[in-house]
Amino acid sequence: MELSSFGEKFTSESGILKLMEDLGNALAGGRDMIMMGGGNPGYVPEIEDALKKRMEDILADPDQFRRLTGIYDPPQGEKEFIGLLAEMLNKKFSWNLEEKNIAITNGSQSSFFILFNMFAGKMPDGSLKKILLPIAPEYIGYADTGLTEAFFVSYKPRIDFFDNRLFKYRVDFDSLEINDEIGAVCVSRPTNPTGNVITDNEVEKLSLLTEKNNIPFILDSAYGTPFPDIIFNEAKPFWNKNTILCMSLSKFGLPAARTGIVIADESIIKNFSGINAIMNLAPGSFGAMMALDMVKSGDITKFSREFINPYYMEKSKNAVELFHEALEGTDYYIHKPEGAIFLWLWFKDMKITSYELYERLKARGVIVVPGNYFFPGIYDNSWKHRDECIRVTYSQEPEKVRKGIKIIGEEVRKAYS
Ligand SMILES: Cc1ncc(COP(=O)(O)O)c(C=O)c1O
Repeated sequence: MELSSFGEKFTSESGILKLMEDLGNALAGGRDMIMMGGGNPGYVPEIEDALKKRMEDILADPDQFRRLTGIYDPPQGEKEFIGLLAEMLNKKFSWNLEEKNIAITNGSQSSFFILFNMFAGKMPDGSLKKILLPIAPEYIGYADTGLTEAFFVSYKPRIDFFDNRLFKYRVDFDSLEINDEIGAVCVSRPTNPTGNVITDNEVEKLSLLTEKNNIPFILDSAYGTPFPDIIFNEAKPFWNKNTILCMSLSKFGLPAARTGIVIADESIIKNFSGINAIMNLAPGSFGAMMALDMVKSGDITKFSREFINPYYMEKSKNAVELFHEALEGTDYYIHKPEGAIFLWLWFKDMKITSYELYERLKARGVIVVPGNYFFPGIYDNSWKHRDECIRVTYSQEPEKVRKGIKIIGEEVRKAYS
């Protein structure tokens, strides 16, 4: 059977799919692997309790149960949830949102698929536009979303070094160029995989640049404020009419509900909801119904600050300390953990690639993600940095994390000798 260009593009082997298969095979091998590779959020007991309670309330109320299971929402999403969310965000941040500024999607991954292809790819005049990622490394999930080839262009960051072998990526505004080829700019804040939170100043500058060039600024807040609020330093929440803010309920503890939230100017939400209707008819109601009461009471932000944030901050701190011990004597650097649920480690001038390190660790029962997958839009194969980093998740049981980090230390040491 012959596949269309679309069929070919979305079935041809992507690096990350191959890696996922490889991971699946490793796990299916029956060995008790230490999983430090996954992107699944951890299980925060207080959040699980609150969600259980909410589910019981819904089950006990026929009207709410029907809304959860038996009614198509409008293409823009669950109306009451949208109204309450607008109210909450206005109260907190004075953004002056109305219901027409918010759309619900089946997970922010699907928000990005729609948004990226709305603004980049083949244009009506036949020209091609791209999505600009101001910093790579950036979220792997963006990489294969474009309907056309060479869909992203990204920039190498500037690197600042701090005490204690910490470093931070910064947007290199001297190199960054927005020309007619760029359809939108997108950045995740906090960033998956690095845990970077680009500064308020960088956000302001990117916003001004996009506004000047009359293109949207897409801000991926899957880990950001006001929920799940996995940010460990000060960062000002940001939205204006030129910004498309993408939020998600996944890292609040509802990844299986597949609920994304898009906040943007009315005209964008109208177009976005139209595409959403064609693709999905209606977004699912599950996440919106589960979170409704917590948005109404404000508990969604309170619980994020009181339970989710400390859960990850504590684990991140412990993991950093263990890595300092385990890696001593090697030329390692750790990206400043400012948010999200990962650590990003850089092994400068290591004698093997991060992919080879991944293979060696897998053989010893530890799964990490080699960093080379996180550079969508970088076409310079000579940039060694791409093959010197790994992403590590630290949300597993402490004993497993300790053991995993010890093994990583041993293998990295060997890789330097
Ligand atoms: C930075 C970032 N954006 C978006 C997503 C997609 O999240 P979801 O589709 O579950 O809302 C993820 C998932 O891990 C992510 O890390």
